[in-house]
Amino acid sequence: MSELVDKLVCENLKALKPYESARRIFAGGDSDSEIWLNANESPFANDYSVDSSHFNRYPDCQPPSVVGPYAAYAGVQEDQLIVTRGADEGIELLIRTFCTPGKDSILICPPTYGMYAISAETCNVGVNKAILNDDFSLDIATIKSFKDKVNLVFICSPNNPTGTSVDKAQLSEVLEHFADSALVVVDEAYIEFDAANTWATELAQYPNLVVLRTLSKAFALAGIRCGFTLANSEVIQSIMKVIAPYPMPEPVAQIAAQALSPKGLALMAEQVAYLHTQKEALKQQLAMFPEVTLVGDDKANFILFRHPLKQALMDYLVVNSVLIRDQSKQINLENCLRITLGNQQQNEKLLSLMTEFFAQQEPLA
Ligand SMILES: Cc1ncc(COP(=O)(O)O)c(C=O)c1O
Repeated sequence: MSELVDKLVCENLKALKPYESARRIFAGGDSDSEIWLNANESPFANDYSVDSSHFNRYPDCQPPSVVGPYAAYAGVQEDQLIVTRGADEGIELLIRTFCTPGKDSILICPPTYGMYAISAETCNVGVNKAILNDDFSLDIATIKSFKDKVNLVFICSPNNPTGTSVDKAQLSEVLEHFADSALVVVDEAYIEFDAANTWATELAQYPNLVVLRTLSKAFALAGIRCGFTLANSEVIQSIMKVIAPYPMPEPVAQIAAQALSPKGLALMAEQVAYLHTQKEALKQQLAMFPEVTLVGDDKANFILFRHPLKQALMDYLVVNSVLIRDQSKQINLENCLRITLGNQQQNEKLLSLMTEFFAQQEPLA
């Protein structure tokens, strides 16, 4: 059998390593007994109700109960968005719609979110890189040098894992430079934590702009898999040719509609404000530990820091059931760890373990 698989599996998949999601790395864990600060999820589990009376029917491809409220929330027209299974599906659909396998390429700006490259590789689409500058701003000259060589330019803002938001003037320059040759995809998965910097309201000005959004972060709904791609209607209509016929399970649509109701939006805003407060407290405490350097910025719901003993610290936290994310394999992020903001109790537990860890190191110093 394995010979048959070897013979049949697509050539471009043979060497491919799947995305190491936080959940894959610690598979089988239990969020009741462990503290999960490793996937940029929300610590809040909010209540929803589900009506099963139509579960015998296929759902709407694009449920109006979700499309309408999200368009209003994002400030776009209803024909300027498509609902997908998380922003991850949006990334894949963009690549499948706008890149020809074995011929076209995308551009990414690492260190950044890993799924742009993985999705491209699974589709046999090339991946070019314009590494961020030392201060994590865009390397505009290198990005520009890829004109006519890429079909999609992925820019994450706020960027995972650096927490930096892209400079407005830089992004305008990129959008204008690629106006007649590539779509510029601004991944705003964390935008609710830096709401003033959204690009969703600029679609009219830039026909080649695409914005990715999700309910997985500020809306505390990573478990339902619901994301949005916002773009001009011609782009959306092209993606509609590729999306599965029934991508949105009925329970997902029902829950998303509740999250996007006025009550749901108010709850999200309240929880974002709470997390901002937690972020300030956590940052201050982290900066006081020996040799901890905060890295990047804090525009999202996580903090990145560097420490020479990152592996020992990580191991100590794992043994004590607190999971954070190692980012040290990413370019220019040697010895960097990323902490997702938890609730006050979870953040305090993390800090007390870090205090213990550093106290144990002292006799060696
Ligand atoms: C920058 C970025 N984009 C997209 C995603 C995926 O979002 P979703 O859960 O909606 O697929 C993530 C998840 O961590 C992310 O960090």
